[in-house]
Amino acid sequence: LVASMEQVDETYIMVKPDGVQRGLVGEIISRLEKKGFKLTALKLFQCPKELAEEHYKDLKAKPFFPGLIDYITSGPVVCMAWEGVGVVASARKLIGSTDPLKAEPGTIRGDLAVQTGRNVVHGSDSPENGKREIGGTAYYVSGLKKVKYVSGHQL
Ligand code: TYD
Repeated sequence: LVASMEQVDETYIMVKPDGVQRGLVGEIISRLEKKGFKLTALKLFQCPKELAEEHYKDLKAKPFFPGLIDYITSGPVVCMAWEGVGVVASARKLIGSTDPLKAEPGTIRGDLAVQTGRNVVHGSDSPENGKREIGGTAYYVSGLKKVKYVSGHQL
């Protein structure tokens, strides 16, 4: 009841090409569902280079940027919008540290990955970036439209 008075945020979660190819889509969705967040949009699609560059624009000057763009555009990704109280920070916790070898066991990256450059999933780092990333993807992807539905529980 206290939580129901707090602000509901939204975050952009993307299963990266390695996660899709390794068959981890269900596992990743399951962890977010079991935590209690609400899936409001989902699409499997091939990320165009210009969207990948926009998505990661804050990292443009980094030496790993070209490799990151090649990786993200190397195969289909599953892009999703999730909402809930505190979802941005909580999803980042469920995902774990950027370097999977430093990510805690029990987190997605800690349990399922070993390389920073193949860390299976993305989660927005702020509510503002959540909105930007969902909006940017929705612009490119026909069918990524958030649905409004009422569930039996306040999440
Ligand atoms: P970043 O936004 O720092 O991490 P996170 O995904 O945890 O928010 O970096 C974005 C992605 O860039 C990261 O998931 C993997 C890639 N990356 C590298 O390939 N090498 C690196 O040294 C870093 C820091 C990131």
